[in-house]
Amino acid sequence: MDMDQHDTLLIIDFGSQVTQLIARRLRELNVYCEIHPFQNVTPALLAETAPKAVILSGGPASVIDAGSPRPPAEVFELGVPVLGICYGQQVMMEMLGGRVERGDGTSEFGRAWVERKGDKHPDLLTGWFLEAREQVWMSHGDHVAKLAPGFEVLGTSPGAPFAITGDRARHFYAVQFHPEVHHTPNGRTFLENFVKIAGFTGDWTMAAYKDEAIRLIREQVGDARVICGLSGGVDSSVAAVLIHEAIGDQLTCVFVDHGLLRQNEAEEVVGMFRDAYNIPLIHADEADLFLGELEGVSDPEVKRKTIGRLFIDVFQREANKIEGASFLAQGTLYPDVIESVSFSGGPSVTIKSHHNVGGLPEKMGLKLVEPLRELFKDEVRALGHELGLPASFIGRHPFPGPGLAIRCPGEITRDKLEILRKADAVYIDQIRKHGLYDEIWQAFVALLPVRTVGVMGDGRTYDYACALRAVTSVDGMTADYYPFSHDFLGETATRIINEVRGINRVTYDITSKPPGTIEWE
Ligand code: XMP
Repeated sequence: MDMDQHDTLLIIDFGSQVTQLIARRLRELNVYCEIHPFQNVTPALLAETAPKAVILSGGPASVIDAGSPRPPAEVFELGVPVLGICYGQQVMMEMLGGRVERGDGTSEFGRAWVERKGDKHPDLLTGWFLEAREQVWMSHGDHVAKLAPGFEVLGTSPGAPFAITGDRARHFYAVQFHPEVHHTPNGRTFLENFVKIAGFTGDWTMAAYKDEAIRLIREQVGDARVICGLSGGVDSSVAAVLIHEAIGDQLTCVFVDHGLLRQNEAEEVVGMFRDAYNIPLIHADEADLFLGELEGVSDPEVKRKTIGRLFIDVFQREANKIEGASFLAQGTLYPDVIESVSFSGGPSVTIKSHHNVGGLPEKMGLKLVEPLRELFKDEVRALGHELGLPASFIGRHPFPGPGLAIRCPGEITRDKLEILRKADAVYIDQIRKHGLYDEIWQAFVALLPVRTVGVMGDGRTYDYACALRAVTSVDGMTADYYPFSHDFLGETATRIINEVRGINRVTYDITSKPPGTIEWE
């Protein structure tokens, strides 16, 4: 999908861990931007995107090293504002005639304070230095030693004399700190000033996006039929409702119910899509098939692969029944699309095989419709809101494709799943009652494959132990355990043991990610 009606800001990625945050901050300012890895930024791509401004990201390389990454020189000839951040600052100075030095022993990591330099107050610093100094976040080894011609210093820090620099005639700005991270509290204002200088009007709104997405779906699909795999998750649901709004009953949703869903989940999905939205929906209830094949399987990877294989079989079988379908809709998001910049070139290690329908479109000869390709997760939620999906649904925690199978370490049985569902429902109810649901990225119960001895009333019990998990996270890549109060944990443990037969011990998982993962398998 090409959002060519919008002014575009081009972010050239040099491999910083936080490049995506630049895009998030800009989107929050209603500015449309695209991230492209530096290798792909050719003069042709510059012509095609016709950016109204360019940001050069940070990155792990050193401009002093031979072969270190560079943007094409044409970036500086477009006549548009350019902002270099960290490595982006250094590469700008190097290419425009300044000098960068290796920061042996003078590297600066973490919090730093920048003071204003010079008495003029450029537009770039509107709302800055209202106090004597600004807190920023630095992370650099090398530093600029000599400015390029035309640049002046606008702010300094003890470790970075050229913390904020600018050439106001050309609107080239270069900073050593990272304005995109939360640890630069006033960073958003800084980026807002930059996009205002570039003349962005903030036309990237969800209402505009929705209308445009609908138009583009109609254009792409024509009068063909589209199949959409519905998981009950936010992404596939928003994609389905959006496509339905665009092409009505040319869309059929396929919901593969593997019997590993949470309490009442299948009923809710069917109720909402078939009944409330009137979207044609095939509900393939295949619990027997999945649970049958999973009998006796306890290895986590074998479990995942079995579920993945059966899922594809069932989906394909159901999809084949839909005559004349030539498109498959997927809820692919922007973070899945951005090519990552790799300096080592080697594939990263597989921690867990991911459950998805990869390879399916080719196998079935279907073309893809991916209306969420341009969006971040929070934007998908905003779009869902725009489409009138209930807030409680949009705000749901992520739920993994293999479902409860990976929250039930070891062999899965129907009895164990039933116990897990009940405990999970009590836990989530507790979290909602205490008003904590929206503060938490993901919360669930894992049923442990271990039984422990307890005492209830006058009797001895010998039942399962479970672990509560709750984490905060921005993207699921890293996570911290949620700091519940002891009162909350105690009350929840008591409720689970009283209300769920089969569990007599409750623990709380306080592992962060890394080294743990969010799910237990
Ligand atoms: P981990 O456990 O790897 O999970 O820390 C990170 C995030 O991904 C979700 N997850 C999955 N989602 N298919 C999915 O659609 C999967 O196979 C899968 N495995 C993990 C997990 O719930 C968390 O949000």
